[in-house]
Amino acid sequence: MLVLGAGGREHALVWALARSPSVDRVWAAPGNPGMAADAELLPIPAGDLEAVADAAARLEIDLTVVGPEAPLAAGIADLFATRGLRLFGPTAAAAELEASKVFAKQFCLRHGIPTADAAVVGDADAVRRAAARFSFPVVLKADGLAAGKGVLIVHTPAELEAAVVELFEARRFGAAADRVLVEECLIGTEVSFMAISDGRAVEPIATSHDYKRLGDGDAGPNTGGMGSHSPSFALTPELRESILADVIRPTIEGMAAEGRSYRGILYAGLMLTDAGPRLLEFNCRLGDPETQSVLRRLDGDLASALAAAADGRLEPGSVSWDERVGVCVVMAAEGYPGDPRLGDEITGIADAEALPGVVVFHAGTRLDGDRLVSAGGRVLSVTTAAASLSDAVELAYRAAGRIHFAGAHRRLDIGVDTLEGMGWQ
Ligand code: AMP
Ligand code: GLY
Repeated sequence: MLVLGAGGREHALVWALARSPSVDRVWAAPGNPGMAADAELLPIPAGDLEAVADAAARLEIDLTVVGPEAPLAAGIADLFATRGLRLFGPTAAAAELEASKVFAKQFCLRHGIPTADAAVVGDADAVRRAAARFSFPVVLKADGLAAGKGVLIVHTPAELEAAVVELFEARRFGAAADRVLVEECLIGTEVSFMAISDGRAVEPIATSHDYKRLGDGDAGPNTGGMGSHSPSFALTPELRESILADVIRPTIEGMAAEGRSYRGILYAGLMLTDAGPRLLEFNCRLGDPETQSVLRRLDGDLASALAAAADGRLEPGSVSWDERVGVCVVMAAEGYPGDPRLGDEITGIADAEALPGVVVFHAGTRLDGDRLVSAGGRVLSVTTAAASLSDAVELAYRAAGRIHFAGAHRRLDIGVDTLEGMGWQ
């Protein structure tokens, strides 16, 4: 197996695949130092798709699994197909569900998939006119990929004007904001729902909840995600069925009908509103940091399920999830999600992992001689699996408390809102 990527999600994938009974050896490109225990690292830049395909051919890799969205949007699945190499992940045409928010919105309208009401606009005046249709807060979204930062929620006319400047004058998102969605702001509980598909069959992945804001109590800017727990608890079996029936299956069927057969992970970010689940976004890959808590609960052979999906012969029921609760607490660098401070020495990971049930996935780390130092905004994913959410949360914070680097930031309330909802004091 070859895992493409270098973050916490990819470390969790390497960890889970290395534990799949059908797998002998795992490689990672470019990987990170934490993966070295389970995988051989290939020094290939993640963006060099030809070099990845060359390595997969040379090493006779059975299956390449792609972590991040950028290589998928750039057509790595198409390249591997033309070279007769097996890869799990959607083609560029299928990955448009994530790579173009305008495509995704219009796709939802064509197929009756419930989503926030929105207008597609291309200049500042059109944004103002469209925003007048909704009441504040209003959501503005750059069409293209923006590393999770292309969504602006504006609460006042002044914030709207500032956003217009960012999108169309400062061009903070470049061509990704040539088209913009102006969207109603949905209120409710946000959940992540992921499924494996081979273009026809759908295998749901354990549910999860992602904490997107930087600060406790959901304060501060949006981030890639500061923590997660699995299951989500907000998703009752009924809601799960309705998301499968109203969002996931119609998407897989609609993509097949439009000649964009979707083989890969389909990730739906949803708001559970009073009127039912509404789609916020699609991603064409696993969520980060959802994957880190979800995969701690994996039971069974993930590698063979992904290989079957890549071949178009996914068998429903081929992966299962144990009853434990998984928690992930992200340790981020000072400055994240803006310019993170890098190069600080990280200590205490072994002490954290000495606690039974703790696995620390690396996200933004590198070796400087024999010192492990921070090398990205999100530095580590501290994960636990335990019998209850309260046990898993408590253990995750005990473990995180043993890890040190200068300027480390973590939320202190991962799982707390869910525990309060359960009546925990
Ligand atoms: P996205 O990049 O589309 O996932 O959006 C980032 C985050 O913005 C989401 O996870 C939500 O928290 C929030 N968001 C996006 N769209 C909406 C919406 N229509 N209403 C409320 N919040 C939204
Ligand atoms: N955690 C959200 C994402 O992976 O997009």
